[in-house]
Amino acid sequence: MDKIIWIEKKINNYNKKILVDSDKSLSIRWALLASQAIGLSKANNLLKSEDVLSTLNCLKKLGVKVVLKKNSCEILGNGLNSFKYKKNLVLNTGNSGTLARLLIALLIRSPYKIKITGDKSLSKRDFLRVIEPLKKFGANFYPKNKTTLPLFIRGNNYLRPIKYHEKKGSAQVKSCIMLAALNAPGITKIIAKKSRNHTEILYKYLNIPIKIKKKKNLSLIEVKSKIDIKPLNYNIPSDISSSAFFIALTLLSKKSNLIIKNVNINETRAGSIIILNKMGAKIKFKNKRSYKGEKIADIHVKSAKSLKHIKCPTKYNTSAIDEFLIIFLVAAKSKGVSYFSNLSELNQKESQRLKLGSKILNMIGVKTKLTDHSIKIYGNPNLNLNLNKNYVIKNYFKDHRIFMMSTIAALTLGGKWKIHNSESIKTSFPSFLKLIKYLGGKYIQ
Ligand code: S3P
Repeated sequence: MDKIIWIEKKINNYNKKILVDSDKSLSIRWALLASQAIGLSKANNLLKSEDVLSTLNCLKKLGVKVVLKKNSCEILGNGLNSFKYKKNLVLNTGNSGTLARLLIALLIRSPYKIKITGDKSLSKRDFLRVIEPLKKFGANFYPKNKTTLPLFIRGNNYLRPIKYHEKKGSAQVKSCIMLAALNAPGITKIIAKKSRNHTEILYKYLNIPIKIKKKKNLSLIEVKSKIDIKPLNYNIPSDISSSAFFIALTLLSKKSNLIIKNVNINETRAGSIIILNKMGAKIKFKNKRSYKGEKIADIHVKSAKSLKHIKCPTKYNTSAIDEFLIIFLVAAKSKGVSYFSNLSELNQKESQRLKLGSKILNMIGVKTKLTDHSIKIYGNPNLNLNLNKNYVIKNYFKDHRIFMMSTIAALTLGGKWKIHNSESIKTSFPSFLKLIKYLGGKYIQ
């Protein structure tokens, strides 16, 4: 169902503290690893979004006991490769690339063909990136030569460890190989372009044999198969990718202050903060602490007096990969011409974000120059003074981050906005609109 919101007023100044929804990457990884452990694992503050609920539903269909309560979730694992299911199983991974690409790694011993499906957006996304390494382990995929969902996987009892060079900077591909490695006797070796490292941190915490060497922009990872994984109790912190929309809201609005509590600021995820600070923001991490190998802090942000362009160093790309839409919006209201490159992966997300992000900026009168992998944004600090038209956002594959970027644009730049598919936020950040309201943002539903 298409739910629409209308925004016709900019947000007034605010001075508040908020808690955004929990980290999606950690929530999905917790559930998948808990299903492979022996014994009862418990998570507090598991993100209750559609992507995580799809994860729990897939696990239930694979015979895993899952109990979801108001503030916690329990999973009773029976160990590696202990899924129990009948023939003709279909697993619906919904909108979640992370779920689909990580879950199939746990199915590479399955004796029967399992069908993996996803929604319209996920069914357009590339799976060759995980089919290729998983085939090397010995898994089988059908139909042959198909690289998108729906796909069938059938496992193999005679798996071999692999050596693989992951060149995209994809944490999903890296994590897929790391999970598959648990099932393949021997040592799997991965050379991976640096990307979010939650799986590595969880492996260390769980004493799963892993060796990691860092070399410039690469991680050299060795994983040894491990049969008895211990249960994992975890308090999931808040998501920096969700926080980024409220950081941008505050930067782009006037005389406001915001504290976002208890956010996972892992440096492999925090590139957006470095980029925005280089553009003139003064975002600070306070009350820093460590939790089971992750770093957590409260984020303090103020409205920006002036923002300037950036030639964004590509070394920050993977650590800001989910935040570029909102960074583009900030660049649109900054002084000078910003340039972002090596970002072809952005067009492989829930929607073609490089293309669509550029289209939305053009719609509000911001000039851009777009290629397959780069964008130049001709910023205008007076952008908000010129916006007085009607703007409609639709047909964007229900990409949650396009919806949130558009909402932030509407609340800070002015004009009359009609934004379709507000239900899209349910995949990652169900409380988004409630928090907007709490800060004083007005929208009609
Ligand atoms: C994720 C990895 C990233 C990111 C996605 C979550 C993860 O995808 O965009 O939202 O949890 O591993 P890629 O691995 O495709 O870069």
